[in-house]
Parts: sequence; C-alpha cells; structure tokens
Amino acid sequence: MKKKIVKLENRMSTYMRVSSLIAALAWAWFLAGISVDASEQQNVSEKTVKEKISENDEKSSENDLKIETNAQRMIIEGRRIFRFDTFGSEAFWGDALQLHKAIAGEKNGGVGDGVSPKTALSAGLKVDADALPPALQDQLKAGKASEVDLDNPATTVALIKLDAVVGVKGFFDDNGNLKSMGIQCALCHSTVDNSLAPGIGKRLDGWANRDLNIGLIVSLAPNLKPFSDLLEVDEATVKKVLTSWGPGRFDALLDKDGKAFRPDGGQAGTLIPPAFGLAGINLHTWTGFGSVPYWNAYVAATEMHGSGTFFDARLNDESQYPVAARSGSFNTRDTPDRITSKLAPLHLYQISIPAPRPDKDSFDEIAAVRGKDIFSDKAKCATCHVPPLFTEPGNNLHDPSEIGVDAFQADRSPTHMYRTAPLAGLWTHQKGGFYHDGRFASLRDVIQHYDEFLKLGLSEQEKSDLIEYLKSL
Ligand code: HEC
Ligand code: HEC
Repeated sequence: MKKKIVKLENRMSTYMRVSSLIAALAWAWFLAGISVDASEQQNVSEKTVKEKISENDEKSSENDLKIETNAQRMIIEGRRIFRFDTFGSEAFWGDALQLHKAIAGEKNGGVGDGVSPKTALSAGLKVDADALPPALQDQLKAGKASEVDLDNPATTVALIKLDAVVGVKGFFDDNGNLKSMGIQCALCHSTVDNSLAPGIGKRLDGWANRDLNIGLIVSLAPNLKPFSDLLEVDEATVKKVLTSWGPGRFDALLDKDGKAFRPDGGQAGTLIPPAFGLAGINLHTWTGFGSVPYWNAYVAATEMHGSGTFFDARLNDESQYPVAARSGSFNTRDTPDRITSKLAPLHLYQISIPAPRPDKDSFDEIAAVRGKDIFSDKAKCATCHVPPLFTEPGNNLHDPSEIGVDAFQADRSPTHMYRTAPLAGLWTHQKGGFYHDGRFASLRDVIQHYDEFLKLGLSEQEKSDLIEYLKSL
C-alpha cells in the first residue's frame, strides 16, 4: 500500500514539474498575445506570473495534467513536422522534377552548373546554424566564411546532407550522391536570425521568408513537364510564369484555376504570410479559404505534392477551377496517406507560435500611443482589425469593394472575399510590400490608400502616428 502511495507521489511530482513548465509556457504565450502594446505587457509583473503558476499547480487534477501533457507532446511533434516533414514530396521535387540535379550540378552527379551556397542564399534559401558542425559555426562567427567554399555547389550538397538548408530535405544513395529531394513547410514559413552571417542563423519558425524566390528556384528544374502537362502549356510558358512571382511570392492557385497572370498582365502570386500569431483567428489565407488545418492539407497534398488526402468539393467547379476539376486534385486520395495524421499536431504547433514583439527602439513609443487612439477612433481601423486579434472575431471576410481594391485574387477563392489580415508581428514582414500581392510598397502607402478610399481626412501627423503604432504590434 505504502509503496503504491510513494509511486503515486513520484508520478504526481513528475506531473507537477511538467505542469509548471507547461503553465510557464502557456503564460508566456498568453501574456505575449493579450497585451495590445508593449507598455501593457510590462504591467504584469514576474511575481504575478509565478503566483499564478503555483496556484495552477495546486489546483491541477490528474486529468488537467493529462491535458497539459498532451498539448506539450503535440507541440513538440508539430514542430518536428513543420520543420522536417516532407510528406513524401520527394516523389515530386526530386523523382519527377529532378530539381536536386540542378542544385548538385554536373560535377556532383547532376546537370548544369549547380547552385552554389552564394547563389542559394541570394535566392533566399536560409541556413540553420544549429545544424552546422561547431568548427564551421566558429569560422562563420569569426567572419572567416572565406575558408568555406561558398562558390561551390558541392558545399550546397554538403549543407543539404547536414539538414542545414531550411525547408529542404536531401536523399542520398550509398555513395553519398544526392538522389532526390523533398520540401518542408519551413521552406516558405521560416527564416533565420542571421546571427552567423546574412541568411545563416537560428531558425525563426513561422516567419514569412520574403527573400525566397521559390519560382526562380523551381524554374531551374530539369523536368518541368509535370507542370506543362497539368496546365496544358509549353515549358517556356511554365518558366515565364514561375519567374514572374519574384521574392516572397508563390501562387497556390495556379494549379487549380490555371490563371497565370492578372488581366492587366501583372504577376498572380501572393505574398507568403507568417504562420505565427494564428490562434483565435477564424479564416486563413489572404482570401479566407478555410482554417489552418484546411489549408495545411491543401498545401501538403496539392502544392508540396506530398502523399495524402485533401478534399474540397468547392474546387470541383469547371468554370472557377478548370484545372482542379480536370485533374481531380479537389479530391486527392494518395496512398500511403502521410498527411492526415499530422494535421492535429501541426495545427497546435502553428497556433502556439506567438507573434514576435518588435524591439523597443524600432518605433517611436510616444507616437505609437497616439497612433493607437487614431487606429480605434478616427481612422476606424479597429472596426475590422479588432485588437488583440487584429481581425474580426466571427466571419472575418470583406468584399473587395469594402477595402477599395480589385477582385482578381478574391475571385480565385471560393469566398470571393479578402480576409482581414491579422497585424500582430507586422514588423517582421515588411519586405515585398503589403496586402495580398504587395501592391502597397510601404505602410505609408497603405494608410494613404485607406485615407483616400475611406475619406478619413487624416493629417500628416496622424498618418505618421498610425505607422508607428503598426510598427509596434
Ligand atoms: C512554396 C511556399 C510555401 C510552402 C512550402 C508552404 N506555404 Fe503556407 N503559404 C504560402 C503562401 C504563398 C500562402 C498564402 C496563400 C494565399 O493566401 O494565396 C500561404 C499560407 C499559409 C497559411 C495561412 C496564414 C494566414 O494567416 O492566413 C498557413 C497557416 C500556412 N501557409 C501554413 C503552411 C504549412 C503548415 C505548410 C506545410 C504543410 C506550408 N504552409 C507550406 C506559401 C507556402
Ligand atoms: C473594412 C475592413 C477594414 C478596415 C476598415 C481596415 N482594414 Fe486593413 N485590411 C482589411 C483587409 C480585408 C485586408 C487584407 C487585404 C488584402 O489581402 O489584400 C487588410 C490589410 C491591411 C494591412 C496589410 C497587412 C499585410 O499583411 O499586408 C494593413 C497594414 C492594414 N490593413 C492596416 C489598416 C489600417 C491602418 C486601417 C485603418 C486606417 C485599416 N487597415 C482599416 C480590412 C480592413
């Protein structure tokens, strides 16, 4: 009997430790998310947090602890999937497109010149410093990048072998030659903190990689036939479309509706949005296609070309989605299914990533406080961007005419609407511009647009204050 009690006590104390850790994480997340500006965040003292944690510990039942442990397990699993899972997409990027061959180059068993680390970095690929051997980290830290041959594609292959190229997974044969490659969510939705060198540093999961020229990279693939067959165009046209997007953009609808360019001839890709700060938000993507797990299944199965299941009868529409209706991709049923079982942890991981806070000295705090009032009062921004979510609780969609822009991209969505973009962490994705296609180059341009379209009558001072507030979110 006594033994049993001791055992239970041990178990409970393990539970308690795990629980404190989880409670601390949950609190950090809660505090980061709930405060509208930096000054409020500081009002919650560390003491209050500690008191809450111990209060929580005492009240936790075994069932509470089970729930917390489950959440922790799913977050860890979700992170692994987000960073490292290819969902079997190597069958497409490697085996079919042969993209790995263009990266390796002829001298390393591939084709053409190959892609050197310098070229890869200039195309926006990022290197995970933690995956590099310590000696190499030291060299880079000391600014001795010259000792590493950054002009040689063989170095790129070596980096891929180390799992150091963010979002790219290499598969090697017994002789160590690159034989295939797959891609991961982190390719587009992570960047690095540049702590060792530009493009080389610690991973920042969820940050939009606005440097990544994914279209250019894909256009290097020796075999573009899978695209030209699907779209029923020649390979030169495929290349033209892929290279039209530019850095930070990708077109996740091209393979559904075949719309390669806007009616005015402009590129049709959308900016890569962040995959952080998504908890509490109803609809996702620029045009509100669905929830996070909806979109994750869409992307993993039909864009990354992993092996799995995706179903959406809305896309079985010959007039809006001729390519999806023809190819049957609205009802993708690959076997084995390497996607469905991963959606739950992947979901929990993404909604657990807080929107990062800006540095205090990256904006004018006093102006930001004034800007906050303008945001909610005179400029009416908060009617749609409701703090602290900065999107509407409820059906967060708007007709293009409500925000004064054309309907091209909205009409590519089953919703025919634009989703009120959440603004927390806006400071991390200013490259490439704002709105779904980056049509407004700066925050001043965004505000100028609202001022004219909504006839707000903002003074120059009020506009500047609003900008400082947006930079503080
Ligand atoms: C090739 C680049 C690329 C890859 C790989 C990619 N995404 Fe995306 N992601 C995008 C783009 C572009 C959008 C915007 C789509 C749109 O609205 O037109 C997007 C949208 C999203 C959104 C919506 C964010 C919001 O605020 O609405 C989430 C969430 C997301 N992606 C998660 C993922 C996950 C998880 C994976 C891996 C399964 C993934 N993405 C793989 C480019 C990518
Ligand atoms: C009628 C609802 C509505 C109002 C009012 C509104 N917005 Fe928006 N906002 C949107 C929608 C919808 C989008 C997404 C547009 C797109 O995807 O092209 C957006 C996008 C933005 C973006 C771009 C975000 C990004 O990631 O690129 C910023 C910045 C922004 N709004 C700021 C403001 C400010 C500042 C105001 C007040 C002057 C304001 N909004 C008023 C609905 C609104």
